[in-house]
Amino acid sequence: MTKNVAVIRGDGIGPEITEQAIKVLDRIAEIYGHSFKYINVDMGGCSIDKWGVPLTEEMLDKCINSDSVLLGAVGGPKWNDVPSHLRPEKGLLKLRAGMGVYSNNRPAKIWNQLSDSSPLKKEIVDKGIDFIIVRELIGGIYFGEHKTENCDGIEKATDVLTYTSKEIERIGRIGFETAQKRNKKLCSVEKSNVLDSSRLWKKTMESLAKEYIDVELTHMLVDNCAMQIVKNPSQFDVIVTENMFGDILSDEASMITGSIGMIPSSSLGATSCGLYEPIHGSAPDIAGKDIANPIGIILSAAMMLRYSFDMNDEADCIEKAVSAFLDKGYRTADIMPPNGEFILVGCKECGKIITENLVKE
Ligand code: IPM
Ligand code: MN
Repeated sequence: MTKNVAVIRGDGIGPEITEQAIKVLDRIAEIYGHSFKYINVDMGGCSIDKWGVPLTEEMLDKCINSDSVLLGAVGGPKWNDVPSHLRPEKGLLKLRAGMGVYSNNRPAKIWNQLSDSSPLKKEIVDKGIDFIIVRELIGGIYFGEHKTENCDGIEKATDVLTYTSKEIERIGRIGFETAQKRNKKLCSVEKSNVLDSSRLWKKTMESLAKEYIDVELTHMLVDNCAMQIVKNPSQFDVIVTENMFGDILSDEASMITGSIGMIPSSSLGATSCGLYEPIHGSAPDIAGKDIANPIGIILSAAMMLRYSFDMNDEADCIEKAVSAFLDKGYRTADIMPPNGEFILVGCKECGKIITENLVKE
């Protein structure tokens, strides 16, 4: 199969980790007889420097017309002072909205080999951590009106949070369908004791539940959920939540699995053209030092093969190669325990070893 992959290297550690994912994809193409064509797309700070905006219409079109988009990371302190509508992050939001990818899937799964890296107590980790956060990605406060005004000498900033029942329903369905493919437990997370949008969220989930009688639906307030994720993460199978709550909870969930550097994500909408990115940021403090962990983006590439290209064997092959990397005792700095017999490797070496571990079964 030939697939056109739009590749956004972005800023900070983005380019160096993306290079490793491409190495892996090239080897997969060789082993399985596919051809991946890469289309370079500028987005984020590098696009601001080159084109004056974080994402041009031409670049967005390249993404929309590709078979899928693979993204490193965007942003950095260099662009902290640009006007808010030009920030690198705005490029990412424009891309997500432009592609219509409303459903963001973020797995929180602990790798056996890394159970010692979790900051949680062993007895909590041993009960198992394996859940998915389904985050609504193109609505809510991220996309409401934003403004800063001066009212009689006092600065006033406003961000509006809106959801329609239609937006809630389409992400709710993804939540239920994801649960149907797993342990059939869906936890809908909101703040219905305070927010109207959350009350609509809860009501919409309750009415959808009638169509998915095989799934057990529960409701949880977001503050309680933040607590339960560290207290008893094994209770969760699938969490479905709105954009900002999902942003915050997915960082928390990633941390209890050891390192945010390990976590991939997929974002899908009405078509098979998805956006695949690690959930970590551009980590400007470690950029260019060859110490970043490329596993988040490598696993994102695996998700791209599985969910957009229907290449399940190829995706399994990548995941096994990552597991073999860990089994052999290799660790990048973020997952290196203070003691134990592990081999510290840099970003390039990590990509190289994972590539060498790829074998067709
Ligand atoms: C993420 C990031 C983004 C978000 C930022 C960079 C806009 O934190 O993908 O989680 O908040 O969605
Ligand atoms: Mn985030």
